[in-house]
Amino acid sequence: MIKHDIVIVGGGLAGLRAALEARRAGVDVAVISKLFPLRSHSCMAQGGLNAALGNHPDSRSDSPEVHAFDTVKGSDYLADQDAVEIMTRDGVEIVYEMERWGCPWSRFDDGSIAQRPFGGQSFPRTCYGADKTGLYLLQTLYEQCVRSEVRFYDEFLVVSLVVRDGRCFGAVAYEVANGAIHAIEARVLLLATGGCGRLFSHTSNSLTSTGFGTALAYLAGVPLKDMEFFQFHPTTLVGHGTTITEGLRGQGAYLFNGAGERFMERYVSNAVMERAPRDIVARAVQTEINSGRGIGGERYVHLDVRHLGEEKLQTMFPGIIEVCQEFRKIDPIREMIPVAPGAHYTMGGIDVNADGETEVDGLYAAGECACVSVHGANRLGGNSLLDTLVFGRRTGRAIVEYLGRARGAPPAAGAADAVRSAEENLAKLVAGSGTEDPTALRRRMNLLMDESVTVYREDGALARTVEGIRDLQERYTRMRPIYGGRRFNYDLIWSLELRGTLLLAEVVAAGARIRKESRGSHYRTDYPERDDASWLKHTLAYFRPEGPEFRGKPVTITKWSPQERRY
Ligand code: FUM
Repeated sequence: MIKHDIVIVGGGLAGLRAALEARRAGVDVAVISKLFPLRSHSCMAQGGLNAALGNHPDSRSDSPEVHAFDTVKGSDYLADQDAVEIMTRDGVEIVYEMERWGCPWSRFDDGSIAQRPFGGQSFPRTCYGADKTGLYLLQTLYEQCVRSEVRFYDEFLVVSLVVRDGRCFGAVAYEVANGAIHAIEARVLLLATGGCGRLFSHTSNSLTSTGFGTALAYLAGVPLKDMEFFQFHPTTLVGHGTTITEGLRGQGAYLFNGAGERFMERYVSNAVMERAPRDIVARAVQTEINSGRGIGGERYVHLDVRHLGEEKLQTMFPGIIEVCQEFRKIDPIREMIPVAPGAHYTMGGIDVNADGETEVDGLYAAGECACVSVHGANRLGGNSLLDTLVFGRRTGRAIVEYLGRARGAPPAAGAADAVRSAEENLAKLVAGSGTEDPTALRRRMNLLMDESVTVYREDGALARTVEGIRDLQERYTRMRPIYGGRRFNYDLIWSLELRGTLLLAEVVAAGARIRKESRGSHYRTDYPERDDASWLKHTLAYFRPEGPEFRGKPVTITKWSPQERRY
């Protein structure tokens, strides 16, 4: 039995920041991750983290309040404004805190932390470390966690949660190296398991971004909030999916269609162009492609960075050069980059308040798997790293306070029952009752999601997808026997995770179907207008065996009443 006061599931930025906060308060903390923590998807974040430092010569009059307004407007007024104000206020301190712990931020000549422009923001406020910001932050936090003696369980997959009478007492984990099943007793469990971009086939997300942690919370009775809002990054590398950072457009990169036109002038003002928020740029790119104006009529456009010059590209974007050369044999210093929208960020997630609390006592969530909500219907680039650190830290603090008042010891039989049921689940997969292949089911799910739950959506296609996903859930119960070996058995792990991914696919598609309006990233061709009278509300999806039950939840408005969103 593994036993700690706090167990954090997920070794990305939100998980590590929470772990560090609790550990520095003297609490016994463990981080359990299905990966080695430095391989968490946070390491893929390129562009940066927004905070109103005012270091850029053009951002001297920036403030957390202006940052909050930009975020609320970017969210198409669906973000909870009290939470947004917390995020933009705490963001400034968070950046300097990471600096003190050794994060190698890029610098201006005067030594201050460098900032660059990103889409939808009034001032250049995105702090960055070249184009490897997520990796640098992750390395910095991991060092601090090791220094503070946070206990790590690397390559342990949490397969179920132990919840009894509305209280979470821990989890059950599968040890990837040897297939052992472990009971984990915790006074508090924090899920920080990342997003679910792998619902789609063309995605910037790592293979590991399956959303399994989110599905575990859903199955445990916690509602998922606003899952219909999925962000499509406008510029992902064609044929591969890696993000080609928005930092390039912030710096002045151009988008061209097949006719050689800088097409953004058709969609936003000339002052904004390629620096519009992501939902707008993704729709513009998709419209060009759908209208046959992709490059050579194909399903991509070009991002031109050549005029930025070799020195700037080498210094600020070395990772992009590497990715283009490695995966497309393209040298972006001399050639244009083929790009198209790709699934990038899960704006919805486990319903939590600003302290990371869920509806289940003792169960918390933070980072991309959670929905506070600070991104609403469309996240601004650079606000996700900020979200992980601000709400990771805040949740770590809230958990320490909670420990002082936590009720009840775990029921004696709880862990044993949970272990038995996890063993049975795995044994069922190994025995197999039919001929269905998990890879084929996953591919079909990706295809259905790609066809209908993307940049443009409409009822008929969404209905077919919801039905198709339910069919896949039924076929999942008739899978072929899965290899039963115990060492590094990814066939078994991926087959197990697939159940969770299929549940999330259903919530995303069904949620997109019921929201009959267009807002932020959710664009319904059959309901092209935003409809505040009926839909200025969050959606909560509760697990029911027959399919998700949706309810509404009010949006918190503090200072900014909804207006038409123009750029
Ligand atoms: O384009 C990017 O660098 C991505 C940033 C983000 O998703 O925040």
